[in-house]
Amino acid sequence: MKRVDDFRLRFGKREVVPIVIGGMGVDISTAELALEAARLGGIGHISDAMLPTVTDRHYKTSFVKDKQKHYKFNVASTDKAVVQFDLAQVAEATRLHVSRAMQAKRGEGMIFINCMEKLTMNAPRETLRVRLKVALDEGIDGITLAAGLHLGSFALMEDHPRFRDAKLGIIVSSLRALQLFLRKNSKLNRLPDYIVVEGPLAGGHLGFGMDWAQYDLRTIVTEVQDYLRAEKLDIPVIPAGGIFTGSDAVSYLETGSAAVQVATRFTVTQECGIPEKVQQEYYKASEEDIEVNMISPTGYPMRMLKSCPAIGSGIRPNCEAYGYLLDASGHCAYIDAYYRELEAHPGEKKISVKDKTCLCTHMRNYDCWTCGHYTYRLKDTSHRNADGTYQILTAEHVFKDYQLSTDNKITLPQQK
Ligand SMILES: Cc1cc2nc3c(=O)[nH]c(=O)nc-3n(C[C@H](O)[C@H](O)[C@H](O)COP(=O)(O)O)c2cc1C
Repeated sequence: MKRVDDFRLRFGKREVVPIVIGGMGVDISTAELALEAARLGGIGHISDAMLPTVTDRHYKTSFVKDKQKHYKFNVASTDKAVVQFDLAQVAEATRLHVSRAMQAKRGEGMIFINCMEKLTMNAPRETLRVRLKVALDEGIDGITLAAGLHLGSFALMEDHPRFRDAKLGIIVSSLRALQLFLRKNSKLNRLPDYIVVEGPLAGGHLGFGMDWAQYDLRTIVTEVQDYLRAEKLDIPVIPAGGIFTGSDAVSYLETGSAAVQVATRFTVTQECGIPEKVQQEYYKASEEDIEVNMISPTGYPMRMLKSCPAIGSGIRPNCEAYGYLLDASGHCAYIDAYYRELEAHPGEKKISVKDKTCLCTHMRNYDCWTCGHYTYRLKDTSHRNADGTYQILTAEHVFKDYQLSTDNKITLPQQK
């Protein structure tokens, strides 16, 4: 039986191990995690979600404090249109995060950045342009366009000297989304270097409706492959979502996929940004503890642990400090939901908002426990300690298990 290591992902002459660790914001797929993937010869993602707050945490910048101070006067207002990002600060945060990761990179693999269109930041085009440009300036190996159709994103990078040399890919959840993307960009004479096809079992936001369970990754991957073949387009296809073992990965590689993108199994590694206490919640989860809901203000369904603090929380919108989901006119669905509840419960100290959540604040604080469908299988990938907790893994262990395992086996770590 074949192993993932019998295959290689090829970009021209360059070959890497066909394992891509998917982007996980906010700083769940840390630079450390991406660096391990690259060191081991695969591809790791950093995420460009909320980078000013991420660099405050890692590099002692004070972007959030400065922004909060600047817009303090607006905290009680429901109108957030004035709360704009300083593009120079967005650029500086991106520069810091990307350049530090690229400088620390060792090994034969690559580091990509996951760039989410739904991070509209009260000025979608301008902020996206800056994030893409600076990532390219600082030498990122590739950019994965995520969470959105990204119909205009290639054009935003068109004038950059690295536009044709950096690897640029797109995440789609349907053939239709891919066709739209290709059609919109046909004038640029620049195809994507890879296509991640993300199915309904992934973590984070889903590119499906609440009928996600009716879709199946393998069917979508086959549709995309058939289409590319018919159009004579030779673009690597990378399935994602629910690929839990090396053998799952091999089954895709044997049927024409170029690599796999995986994430859930890395959520319980030392290099992952999720605090250990929360990682234990991921380990403990059973299938019934996981749900797909609509509480993300982005309008996309999101999968998460039912017990996470983000669900039902009624905190005041924190857009003056964060505001990453404000649309072009300064709206976020959580603001409306919050003030509706506040009005309905006058004088109450603590309110609960059930239909939406303040995603920026909760993701920033690791209080929104988004996860993949197979999170309930994580307990089978480690040892249970005497105190009932589970042993945290290393990224190297999980990576090599994907790379080398056969027969649907999962290698357990050395017991501590
Ligand atoms: C905790 C978590 C957070 C995620 N966050 C993002 C994200 O910010 N952007 C994105 O494009 N995908 C995100 N994803 C999706 C992954 O990058 C990946 O494509 C998918 O989860 C792979 O499926 P698997 O988790 O079953 O291996 C996230 C996944 C998880 C588990």
